[in-house]
Amino acid sequence: GEQVPKDKSIDNSITLIQEGYLFIKNRVERYGTDLFEARLLGQSVICLSGEEGAKLFYDSERFERAGAAPKRVQKTLFGQNAIQTMDGEEHLHRKVLFMSMMTTSHQKQLSDLVMEEWDRCIGKWEKEDEIILYHEASKLLCKVACDWAGVPLEEREVKERAEDFSAMVDAFGAIGPRHWKGRRARTRTEEWIEGIINDVRSGTEKALKNSPLYAMAFHKDLHGRELNARMAAIELINVLRPIVAISTFITFSALALHKYPKYKEKLALKNGEWLEYFSQEVRRYYPFGPFIGARVKTDFTWKNCNFKKGQLVILDMYGTNHDARLWHQPEAFKPERFKNRAGSLFDFIPQGGGDPEKGHRCPGEGITLEVMKASLYFLVNKVNYEVPEQDLSYSLVRMPSLPESGFIMRSIKGSEQIQ
Ligand code: HEM
Repeated sequence: GEQVPKDKSIDNSITLIQEGYLFIKNRVERYGTDLFEARLLGQSVICLSGEEGAKLFYDSERFERAGAAPKRVQKTLFGQNAIQTMDGEEHLHRKVLFMSMMTTSHQKQLSDLVMEEWDRCIGKWEKEDEIILYHEASKLLCKVACDWAGVPLEEREVKERAEDFSAMVDAFGAIGPRHWKGRRARTRTEEWIEGIINDVRSGTEKALKNSPLYAMAFHKDLHGRELNARMAAIELINVLRPIVAISTFITFSALALHKYPKYKEKLALKNGEWLEYFSQEVRRYYPFGPFIGARVKTDFTWKNCNFKKGQLVILDMYGTNHDARLWHQPEAFKPERFKNRAGSLFDFIPQGGGDPEKGHRCPGEGITLEVMKASLYFLVNKVNYEVPEQDLSYSLVRMPSLPESGFIMRSIKGSEQIQ
């Protein structure tokens, strides 16, 4: 049979940092295959891309997460020993907890709060020369996420807490100062939330019964034991931090609106379907999550490639969302592609693939989409603004990416005619 291409570099760790989101895609194109071997961080790694690759990757008989996420990522983005690193029954049990906080009614509550807060921004912004949308969105989402989750947060804390949540995300592709900033942000945040978990448990702080704060504080593991307070805090942060991270997608939505203004007309309808098509295309087109890793559970062969127990395998999320076999003109921004789209659980994977109830796929996609739609509706219909000269470019190398300027808006006015 055909040989599986082996990338020739002695170690690709540096090339990964130099090529970022395109590291796997470039090699998939070079070798004409969606499966190749490389060396990363001194170990042999199999890289997978495309729908079939994603389907394989989410086969929990063949892959597990234990030992897959690097410590440096756990110490910044995820938190140590959290849901992302769990397998089997224990993972499923923990996943039910997360899924129970993300029902349609939870999504609606959160997106209604987001809309109210955006409305409240108008008066404040009208008094300012200009604002940076990314920063405004991060603060707003931090406030709303805490409110929705039941976590007490004072107005004067919002900015610093929002910066810490963002710094944890910003650290995931970093070495050096950006990594250390993320670590300090995580330590501060874990201490803060752990204190609140302890207060809820002792009764000094009240938590509403169906709030995420309550659910995390009193969750029992498979053995009927409460999580230790630090672990409960880490998992609650696994709900708060990614809500704040939706600010990246909101910023990319504003960029897309600016570049493709013809869609504004279609986005004028509250709850209209174009809000969804446009938001989905933002999640597909712009870079955010690059890859996900897992380890081979038992030896097997697939497409002539020997997967060896313990070997690291990484799945290309960005490349799969830009795969020309799955997407017509993948490098064009076309929300209409989501109209009547059939799709599978493995071909559109900005937040992972497969069934979120059974595997590691993100449980927060519904929340992400509803928050994006509410924010997009607001930007199109509730404010008028100018977009001054600024650097709107975004990198495909730096991970995570964002428009350089953070999207500056100027001369903001509420548009009174529409409510
Ligand atoms: C997992 C992306 C928003 C909570 C994931 C994964 C990705 C992802 C790529 C890993 C999938 C895998 O390991 O197979 C994103 C992106 C978001 C986002 C790009 C946009 C901001 C959210 C939101 C929440 C959330 C809003 C919660 C409110 C989680 C949790 C996991 C996860 C708890 C771990 C699931 C597990 O290991 O079973 N997300 N996510 N995410 N996400 Fe999200």
